[in-house]
Amino acid sequence: MACFTCCGTLSENDNENNEQEAPQEDEQNETVGTAGKSARRMSNASKAGYKAPYRSSYRASLRASIKEIVHNKYKLSFANISFKTDSSKHKYIHEEINKYGKGNINAKIFTYHELCDATKNFTSENLLGEGGFGRVHKGYIDCLNQVVAVKQLDRNGFQGNREFLVEVLMLSLLHSPHLVNLVGYCAEGPQRLLVYEYMAKGSLEDHLLDREPDKKPLDWQTRMKIAEGAARGLEYLHETANPPVIYRDFKASNILLDENFNPKLSDFGLAKLGPTGEETHVSTRVMGTYGYCAPEYASTGQLTTKSDVYSFGVVFLEIITGRRVIDNNRPSEEHNLVVWAQPLFRDKSKFHLMADPSLEGDYPLKSLYQALGIAAMCLQEEASTRPYISDVVIALEYLSSDKTVKLEDNEEEAEIQVDNEAIDEEESDQPGNAAVKEGKES
Ligand SMILES: Nc1ncnc2c1ncn2[C@@H]1O[C@H](COP(=O)(O)OP(=O)(O)OP(=O)(O)O)[C@@H](O)[C@H]1O
Ligand SMILES: [Mg+2]
Repeated sequence: MACFTCCGTLSENDNENNEQEAPQEDEQNETVGTAGKSARRMSNASKAGYKAPYRSSYRASLRASIKEIVHNKYKLSFANISFKTDSSKHKYIHEEINKYGKGNINAKIFTYHELCDATKNFTSENLLGEGGFGRVHKGYIDCLNQVVAVKQLDRNGFQGNREFLVEVLMLSLLHSPHLVNLVGYCAEGPQRLLVYEYMAKGSLEDHLLDREPDKKPLDWQTRMKIAEGAARGLEYLHETANPPVIYRDFKASNILLDENFNPKLSDFGLAKLGPTGEETHVSTRVMGTYGYCAPEYASTGQLTTKSDVYSFGVVFLEIITGRRVIDNNRPSEEHNLVVWAQPLFRDKSKFHLMADPSLEGDYPLKSLYQALGIAAMCLQEEASTRPYISDVVIALEYLSSDKTVKLEDNEEEAEIQVDNEAIDEEESDQPGNAAVKEGKES
């Protein structure tokens, strides 16, 4: 049966002569920092000619898709959209998407009825999970012959609408194999639903932190591959997207896994456009998820791509340790993963205590050390000393390859003993130095 409604795209309705005024900012005290050097600089690795394999083709397609907006002399400011009144938010949602998408929105518009059909009336058997935004159901879109995940907004407040709009726009304009694909959406009346490609293995959280007894623990190599892919998602947002995008909600539940455990980032409702030109940061109301937020962002609201690097460090530490960033079921000194890890980072002889016990010791020791080094560097208090995400990608590329697996652990043991003496003498007074040193060497 032909499916006319769901195969219509927003671009068909795009208003070429859109003269509407720039969007309002919804976040109070929104400013852009201008002091100092540009926060967006290519890393040394990038300068040296390193290119992610997907980069050139995706960069070209992204540039093409946002060129029109940039040339129209206003910033990609959809991340700051707000709605004045309740009636306007229902009426204008399609118009707003058209306006900021500028003909580049390929997401399909579904009717509510179509999504009821697709999910068998949102039956509980099809429930995949539930988050702050609402419930997520598995579904099947007949006319596309595609299995999907349908996320239904269960609140209709100001922020929910803004997040809905930002999600549609961001995922329609940004394309990378490391970002989840938005198939379409429904904004019929008060309904707000997002339709994504189905990610068969669910979220990283499901496998790492909320693992059901019938699920096998992730092995070391898979963990490193997931970390690498997730870092590539951030690299695309920070260094390929123009202007750069700060993700702001990097956490285990937002990293989705396909049937081969390839990760993709999801949930762009909180994403923010990063600083451009001479600007060093954007200042914004602090949002995100407790425990994952960088300290300078939590205390001052100043947001840079390095805030995402900190959150990456938190997730990477969760990946290594199998511990949740905030876990009140543990002894009080272990409630906060980062606080628990800091003294251990200083002492190489204790690194093995940080490995997830469910790995049962099955990991290359050197790889563990280097992974902890990378995590420690990302978690540094001072944002400017954290690495660029592209540098993290390069390090993880190595760790996720099977080269490290082939190393003989016996050799490593000998090396550790020698190194430990040197570290004790030189570096024991410096927080995290033993792990940071490992990261730099990797
Ligand atoms: N595209 C998808 N494919 C398969 N499962 C998905 C998909 N999107 C979400 N899920 C499942 O639904 C769950 C809930 O996702 P959701 O993004 O709504 O909440 P969350 O990430 O746990 O929390 P938050 O609202 O803070 O982002 C996920 O943990 C995942 O198991
Ligand atoms: Mg989520």
